[in-house]
Amino acid sequence: MNRIIIAIDGFSSSGKSTMARRLAQTIGYLYIDSGAMYRAVTLYCLKHHLFAGETVRTAALRQQMDDIRISFCTDAQTGQAHTYLNGMDVEAEIRSMPVSERVSHISALDFVREALVKQQQRLGEAKGIVMDGRDIGTTVFPEAELKIFVTASPETRARRRYDELIAKGQAVSYEEILDNVKQRDRLDQSRAVSPLKQADDALLLDNSEMTIEEQQAWLLDQYHRVTGCSAHI
Ligand code: DC
Repeated sequence: MNRIIIAIDGFSSSGKSTMARRLAQTIGYLYIDSGAMYRAVTLYCLKHHLFAGETVRTAALRQQMDDIRISFCTDAQTGQAHTYLNGMDVEAEIRSMPVSERVSHISALDFVREALVKQQQRLGEAKGIVMDGRDIGTTVFPEAELKIFVTASPETRARRRYDELIAKGQAVSYEEILDNVKQRDRLDQSRAVSPLKQADDALLLDNSEMTIEEQQAWLLDQYHRVTGCSAHI
């Protein structure tokens, strides 16, 4: 069957990764969380003292970009994709608050975006990929056959991230998360390079009032519509 590229963009914690991962599993596509790549670069900067407060030492980071190797590996037992930074599994660390608080500064840097976008485009060369992020439908794969833009209210998204972190045993407050979500919305939408915006040909999905199963069914319908395949899995 015709393999396509599926681009899922949207606001932070809008549930796009869950939707994208599940769709990829269902239809047998590769799933790539592009946000994890920006998070991995941020973690590298934290570990290599490339932050002075929230300011990035850009000259040093630019020099070290070639030393940052990001890869993904699926855990055979859980089926979850784990992000690796220079051979180390950093899946848990890249979701921590110190990384979340700084990642927008890293993702605003043009040379970081250039390097990661190239890597993302290489991953999509064979098609058969679901990638989620902020600029997948606009910059990484403007020719993607199916583009979705996901949104939900900041409060709904903060609650989801809060529940996720609490379940992982991290000590966080809801207010802190809500502030972080709003701050990242502002930075993601206002940055000069590839700001977060809906592609003209993307379908808008507001999932504030939807269950994960409802979103999944909707997304699978869109996939069947675009590929011309009417069979339901
Ligand atoms: O989806 P996320 O919250 O894990 O993304 C982390 C950060 O990376 C977020 O602040 C925006 C940025 N990002 C980006 O600029 N472009 C992408 N394609 C994916 C994420």
